[in-house]
Amino acid sequence: MKRTAMIGHLNDTHAGQTVTLQGWVSRRRDLGGLIFAELRDRSGTVQVQVEPDSPAFADADRLRAEYVAEVEGHFQLRPEGQRKGGLGDYEVLATRVRVLNPAKTPPFELDKGDQVSEDIRLKYRYLDLRRPEMQRGLLLRSRAVAAVTAFLDAQGFVQVETPMLTKSTPEGARDFLVPSRQNPGEFYALPQSPQLFKQMLMIAGFDRYYQLARCFRDEDLRADRQPDFTQLDMEMSFVEQDDVLALQEQLLAHVVRETVGAELPLPFPRLSYHDAMNRFGSDKPDQRFGLEFVEVTDLFRGGEFKAFAEAETVKVVAAPELTRKQIDELERVAKQNGARGLAWLKRDGEGFSGGISKFVGAQAAALIERTGVEQGGTLLFAAGEWKKAVSALGAVRLALRDLFDLAAHGPRFHVSWVTDFPQLEFDEDSGTWTYMHHPFTAPHPDDLPLFGTARQGEIRAQAYDLVLNGFEIGGGSVRIHDPAVQAQMFAAIGLSPEQAREKFGFFLDALEYGTPPHGGIAWGFDRLVMVLSGAASIREVIAFPKNNRGVDLLALAPSPVESAQLAEVGLQVAEV
Ligand code: AMO
Repeated sequence: MKRTAMIGHLNDTHAGQTVTLQGWVSRRRDLGGLIFAELRDRSGTVQVQVEPDSPAFADADRLRAEYVAEVEGHFQLRPEGQRKGGLGDYEVLATRVRVLNPAKTPPFELDKGDQVSEDIRLKYRYLDLRRPEMQRGLLLRSRAVAAVTAFLDAQGFVQVETPMLTKSTPEGARDFLVPSRQNPGEFYALPQSPQLFKQMLMIAGFDRYYQLARCFRDEDLRADRQPDFTQLDMEMSFVEQDDVLALQEQLLAHVVRETVGAELPLPFPRLSYHDAMNRFGSDKPDQRFGLEFVEVTDLFRGGEFKAFAEAETVKVVAAPELTRKQIDELERVAKQNGARGLAWLKRDGEGFSGGISKFVGAQAAALIERTGVEQGGTLLFAAGEWKKAVSALGAVRLALRDLFDLAAHGPRFHVSWVTDFPQLEFDEDSGTWTYMHHPFTAPHPDDLPLFGTARQGEIRAQAYDLVLNGFEIGGGSVRIHDPAVQAQMFAAIGLSPEQAREKFGFFLDALEYGTPPHGGIAWGFDRLVMVLSGAASIREVIAFPKNNRGVDLLALAPSPVESAQLAEVGLQVAEV
């Protein structure tokens, strides 16, 4: 290799030396007869200066944006007054320039990449990825992988790969299907997670397993979702919930330290699913800021304001002073999230004005005392059935965070565990019970007698989610290792023994051959890297993502295929 250093590694010790650098030209300017070019590689950017009488001048004159070039020259400090800190203190006085490859004019200016539509960036992803901020995200991701691997290897975890072409795993999304040419009319499913395989690895005696596993879920996309994404998947034998959580805390603290140099206070706070919903209106509460809900059901019970008097729950959040327009906008958020409206009050002296103030007389003093609302501040209420009311107010709480940039004043990272999720959830649409995490999650042993009773909605799961800055970055559980309990669980979600056998027969068989107690978790690895790097979307930390319509704009997938290819797998496309 001809280059003598990576650009970002150049420093004082190279000053006065002749260096050979290779990279891309990010900018070229002509000034007072001189040519200035910025040369960039993965590690940094440096200014190259070419004087009119330099033997390099004719070649340098050919340089344009994104040309690949080799520059040989004298590395030196820039004149005093022109030093910009870091590599900006230096320049290379070129003695030789070689164009290694020209480039077409890029479809967008790379240093204005943040102002370009995402679709353009995705179409020309290889150019977008040249941008230093994109490279920083992927380099951070690579360091996170290294940190995870080092930690888990030292803790005796074994890395095992599990199949991509497999059978459906129940994680609550639709499967992506792959037709089988050799078995016409039959399909593989791409794994929504390696859940059953990692459990079988525990049955097989591997004791501790991990894998950076690609997972596939056909679901509606959001900023923190991709149809194919990466989990850091882990499973441990002979453990209870506390053992899993303790190791996870050490692991996350290690990864955060190694990647961004921040210290996470240990142990992570835990709150139950019920408390998370009750206090913050979310099962992944962003606790970088306060705005906790205050319970005021009792204050309005049986009173003259009918909407509150008979409600199962009335909660309030004390917001700063708000304009009518802001209140209207928050009401829209509340309605979008299932509320009928958003009642409000403005603190005015020792009482309230506006909104529902004509219904609030006797309660005023208690409201002020319980909420601590400041003069001019606004109280925002949600009332109704508990889960609906707190969820709607939870969405309002996040809208207030964004409106007042509340998270910016909190800690850089806030991590917590949410535990004690319900084992079963009633699905209003289908009128049936379903699992909340997945059907292999162990119920709390004390709650086992509730299976099959009217109170089975109260069964607590030994399930836990890891929450970072309001994102669910991981979820896991202690697993059922007793076939009898597994059968109870299938019965509770309306799967007959025959149906269970058809779907998971191989796994039910395995459970009966000596299954150790076991449990685990999977991190949404893309989400974790997104939060650590401060990106607004997981697409920023995935090299080649799909857009929010699930389209790969670079390779143009999905796309139609030749009819011959369809015929081979015994398929025909219906008219759409
Ligand atoms: P779960 O379904 O909670 O659990 O997934 C684990 C974590 O994966 C991330 N995640 C996603 N990230 C990006 N795009 C998606 N579409 C997406 N879906 C999920 C989330 C989530 O917390 N087998 C269990 C784990 C276990 O029980 O051990 C599972 O997959 O961060």
